[in-house]
Amino acid sequence: MSTLLKTFSQIDELRQQLAAYRRENKTIALVPTMGNLHDGHLRLVEEAKRHADLVVASIFVNPMQFNAGEDFESYPRTLEADQAMLAKAGCDLLFTPSISSVYPNGQDNQTRILVPGVSEGLCGQKRPGHFEGVATVVTKLFNFVQPDVACFGQKDYQQVTVIRKLVNDLSFPIKIIEVPTHRTPEGLALSSRNGYLTPEQLAKAPALYAVLTTMAENLTTGNTHFHELTYKARARLAEQGFAPEYVEIRNPDLSNASLDAKSWVILIAARLGKARLIDNLIVQRDSN
Ligand code: PAJ
Repeated sequence: MSTLLKTFSQIDELRQQLAAYRRENKTIALVPTMGNLHDGHLRLVEEAKRHADLVVASIFVNPMQFNAGEDFESYPRTLEADQAMLAKAGCDLLFTPSISSVYPNGQDNQTRILVPGVSEGLCGQKRPGHFEGVATVVTKLFNFVQPDVACFGQKDYQQVTVIRKLVNDLSFPIKIIEVPTHRTPEGLALSSRNGYLTPEQLAKAPALYAVLTTMAENLTTGNTHFHELTYKARARLAEQGFAPEYVEIRNPDLSNASLDAKSWVILIAARLGKARLIDNLIVQRDSN
């Protein structure tokens, strides 16, 4: 299948092309992905187009952010379909570097970025080293592309929180844009990993969102029994066939939930069959 999308796998060629755009004073948005794209990723591209003249997407299944026993090898790789979707969404350029060009000296010998605090707990606890891998590759992508803005999904709430701190702490002149989670009409957050679900599991999966919304209703109406809420949510998930990894209520900056906060974020990770699903919801406290 032919595609109209300009695709670069070489870093120096990408840089030359971007330098030419910059000489024309064009602003650049970056949308980093691991491919196997769905409509959630395309929302990022659409949002990126609103913030810059040119949109660069990247597809790189980053081995450094996967732990042993996770799905790095089997992670779905669907380049041609991804290129067609990106072209249709109005993406201007795709960057698909190889592992050896991102980590020319090997992963073990690579300078790494560790973002303290926000990388700990939640997915950071369940997936040791994961956010170090994410922060390191995103830093490299920022350096390859040198974008003016970069888009990340709220779906991976802890990830975008880590990236915000990284950009702030390392003084990158990049505006981070957080894009709301795109869901199916039943509420299931779109994710490449939903592809691991059987049809029966796929029918059950929206229960994760239902649990989030029930918790949100409770919090909004003044029930701040955080422990009881998370305990009940775990039980409800287990009843529906999920194996919950964590259910937590935090302040929006991921610090421990305060009773007097104006808003909170509820974060859940749960396994369903072969898939590890994560989702979250931001809750505004009722001002009445
Ligand atoms: P990936 O899982 O491919 O996701 C790429 C981007 O799409 C992330 O910013 C993610 O939050 C966003 N995204 C995924 N599903 C979404 C949905 N349903 N609605 C809105 N946005 C969604 O996240 C990664 O890749 C990697 O960790 C990466 C940042 C590329 C670093 O390797």
